[in-house]
Amino acid sequence: MNTAPLQGIKVIDFTSVQSGPSCTQLLAWLGADVIKIERPGSGDATRDELQFDPDCPSYYFLQLNSDKKSLTLDAATPDGKAILTKLIETADVFIENLHPGAMDKLGFSWDAVHKINPKCVYATIKGFPVSSRYANLKAYEPVAQVTAGAASTTGWWEGSDNIPTQSGAALGDSNTGMHCAIGILAALIQRDKTGEGSFVYQSMHNACLNLCRIKTRDQLTLDRIGYLTQFPQYPDQKFGDFVPRSGNQEGSGVLGWTYKCKGWETDPNAYAYIILQRGAKDFELAAKAFGFDDWLTNPDFNTADARDKHKQAIYDRIGQWAIDKTKYEVTDILSKAGVPVAPVLSTKEIMEDQSLYDGNTLVKIDQGGKIGEFVTVGVPFTISNYQPVYGPCPELGGNTEEVLKAYGYTDDQIASFAKNGTTAPMPKPKA
Ligand SMILES: CC(C)(COP(=O)(O)OP(=O)(O)OC[C@H]1O[C@@H](n2cnc3c(N)ncnc32)[C@H](O)[C@@H]1OP(=O)(O)O)[C@@H](O)C(=O)NCCC(=O)NCCS
Repeated sequence: MNTAPLQGIKVIDFTSVQSGPSCTQLLAWLGADVIKIERPGSGDATRDELQFDPDCPSYYFLQLNSDKKSLTLDAATPDGKAILTKLIETADVFIENLHPGAMDKLGFSWDAVHKINPKCVYATIKGFPVSSRYANLKAYEPVAQVTAGAASTTGWWEGSDNIPTQSGAALGDSNTGMHCAIGILAALIQRDKTGEGSFVYQSMHNACLNLCRIKTRDQLTLDRIGYLTQFPQYPDQKFGDFVPRSGNQEGSGVLGWTYKCKGWETDPNAYAYIILQRGAKDFELAAKAFGFDDWLTNPDFNTADARDKHKQAIYDRIGQWAIDKTKYEVTDILSKAGVPVAPVLSTKEIMEDQSLYDGNTLVKIDQGGKIGEFVTVGVPFTISNYQPVYGPCPELGGNTEEVLKAYGYTDDQIASFAKNGTTAPMPKPKA
């Protein structure tokens, strides 16, 4: 049976950009009825950010907003407030990510919404936790990365590239949306027990910091002993009193590095990541696969602790071994021997990998018109008795009439909302 887990759950989605929309995208794909509130005339800012064609919504918007309904609504007009109130009355979830204080100003704070509908779960996304000294900052991706330890620990630890570095992964944005979805789902289950909706507050800071636990682990260790054995700086360089940047070191105690492979001079992704595990048996498998049997009897290499002290010699030797093989050959040889290894893949290689479409990791959505088909990342897990169906993104206000009718508004009322600036921009006064 194909049972959508969130079938019947109504979500009023007052979010834009990436953090909130990534959350409601997941809820929609799990079967929730998501009504996206967009400002008349402009809508979600990502609609026309980084467009490939001035007449089409950007891939940024398309990647995050499929299978939602778009209702244009100015929540600052009296009619807009009345309509939003009506939507909230029967909603299961209300979610917003306006700048701090904006939703209170519009009159739809947690307290206000809870009064309208005590059963409704209220989720809010902000840059920082309420207790933070930065709680009032507006936040985009890098704000989360630079304040949550991600940027300060990413990148090179010496030379001219020794600067805090952004991850390509959206640790502040989509990661926050996924964390928020967990909070919402927990609150919905809680509501089944208590009969009452609760307030889910998700900061981008918390979501990003939650993925930096290995760095807080390292800080605790550094505070205790003053050095970190797994870092490239050990044993020859000095550590400061904070976790340094670690280049391509693997995050745990195993020895991992990125190695140049055949073709690296022209292909910036001709690299493979190879890991030497700590266990004696695993190390033996790896040494034999490289043909470095001498490591098994050499006291500089034949224990994990010794290898930590001689990691540069290890990186150099494996580097020479890998340089005349393609990243795929390296992966093939070492994986057959049981060594953890993987090729560095470009976005192009990933998006051209048919096996990812076969498993619905990547999905194709037919948007129709000038856009046609586009690729996006599907629900990032599978559920044995549910397969999402992936549909197109809404046009700005494309479902306004349909939604208003479903909530009992008459044709005359709908026409007057369009004229008085509630669901369509007010005509500009003649000069
Ligand atoms: C992303 C962010 C920086 C953008 O800030 P911004 O440019 O001020 O834009 P916002 O969408 O927050 O709000 C702008 C105004 O539009 C108003 N607005 C937005 N949608 C509206 C609607 N449908 N009806 C009426 N007013 C609306 C807001 O109330 C706000 O008004 P105000 O400035 O008078 O208080 C900010 O929203 C933020 O920090 N959000 C929290 C963290 C977050 O999720 N960041 C995005 C990461 S991808």
